[in-house]
Amino acid sequence: MTTNDDAVDVSRSGFLGAPLDPASADRLAGAGLRYRSVPVDDPASFDPWVQVVARGFQDGERSAEQLAAIRERSAYRRVTGVYDGSAPDPDAPVATIASWIGELAVPGGVGIPSCAISAVTVAPTHRRRGIARAMLEGELRVAAASGAPAAMLTVSESTLYGRYGFASAASAAAWRIDVKRAAWTGPVPAGRVDFISRERLREHIPALHDSVRLGTPGEIDVPAGHWDTLAGTRPDAKDAGEVRAVQYADTSGTVRGLALYRVSENHDDHTKATVDVVYLLAADDDAYAALWRFFVELDLVGEVRARELSVDEPLWWMISDQRAATVTVSDHQYVRILDVPAALAARRYGAAGRLVLDVEDSLGFADGRFVLEVDADGSARATRTTDAAPDAISLSLGIRELAAVYLGGVSVVTLARAGLIAASDPVAAARMFGWHRTPRLSFWY
Ligand SMILES: CC(C)(COP(=O)(O)OP(=O)(O)OC[C@H]1O[C@@H](n2cnc3c(N)ncnc32)[C@H](O)[C@@H]1OP(=O)(O)O)[C@@H](O)C(=O)NCCC(=O)NCCS
Repeated sequence: MTTNDDAVDVSRSGFLGAPLDPASADRLAGAGLRYRSVPVDDPASFDPWVQVVARGFQDGERSAEQLAAIRERSAYRRVTGVYDGSAPDPDAPVATIASWIGELAVPGGVGIPSCAISAVTVAPTHRRRGIARAMLEGELRVAAASGAPAAMLTVSESTLYGRYGFASAASAAAWRIDVKRAAWTGPVPAGRVDFISRERLREHIPALHDSVRLGTPGEIDVPAGHWDTLAGTRPDAKDAGEVRAVQYADTSGTVRGLALYRVSENHDDHTKATVDVVYLLAADDDAYAALWRFFVELDLVGEVRARELSVDEPLWWMISDQRAATVTVSDHQYVRILDVPAALAARRYGAAGRLVLDVEDSLGFADGRFVLEVDADGSARATRTTDAAPDAISLSLGIRELAAVYLGGVSVVTLARAGLIAASDPVAAARMFGWHRTPRLSFWY
């Protein structure tokens, strides 16, 4: 696997300190609003921003301890607010956004710099005046200028981001397994599963995740604070003691898997507690089998639930009764391509071929005609062109459809059948874009 560390670092440093987009600042100024960066190390500016984000997601007020913990873990991101000087509290923003350059895994074990966007809120008092649009378009322009070929986000509502060129490129599957009904039929690996402390898991999980994340398209590098949130190792974590941690070590003693879970008792029937798998990281197939077997075979448990799994899990083939599992699929990792040649050339492909893509992008980042040439080994070159190239497969699509097929999460044939892509040979194009590993993003950001 290859990591594109240099490209990620260049984009990261350029992006973090880049000024806010002047066009968006002007547009907001025209509405009497000020668009400004929020210094993370200044509690007088940052803390009100955090409180507004919490309120925007219908959450409660943050305590002083929580504010300190968030401040300490936020240096990696650009924090931006929109301010209304005529509001009773002019120091609290009326809109918020945060962004940073992460590394998005694409097919072939490669990572590309991608602008992660989160904490998008607009106060209900200021909604539907174009403030979110100004912030989103502004941050996309800054990301493109700093050299990020893509942007990405996870969303509260599916209907929000298509208008900016995003599409869900990795779906998420939520599982509920009736474990009284589903016996384990998968392999029984020779290593061992042991309980460990949450602190030990927190210490080891970043390196284990980094060693495997590029193998799954859609995964990104996890900001450090997210591991603390999952493991309950932040000083402000609520009910942290309810989270339990296990590891899987192979026969040589090397830790190859880690999992966090929480149990909710069933007071009406003590044999039917519910287990929520908070996070399961398996660096190889043995670790995967051993950890899932651990959950499927837990005593006093009626249901095991897990979220943000891939839509094509080996687990489906490792239980005695597939109807014991209820699987719900939803859109999850949204991607927006900003630089078509860079994004297309970075990934590997399932088949050789030559494609000409006519891409439509209403925001203008990626409009135009591009030629993609894939060699027999799956590596590719992509350039902007004006040529007709009659000998190539032609594909005509919007920027969203390009994002949807980019990680291999949906076939070109499916989108052609849905009337969203026009292709001279959809099957050949589908073979090229197809990938053997279903994309997945294992958390929210
Ligand atoms: C979603 C939210 C950020 C929108 O902010 P806003 O400033 O009202 O949005 P804008 O006025 O800039 O609207 C931009 C476009 O999005 C559309 N839009 C806004 N909210 C929408 C919603 N909830 N559902 C569907 N479309 C929506 C607008 O109609 C507008 O469309 P157009 O420009 O294509 O005509 C805001 O309602 C909010 O904070 N919601 C709660 C928190 C949240 O869900 N944040 C998103 C996290 S991923």
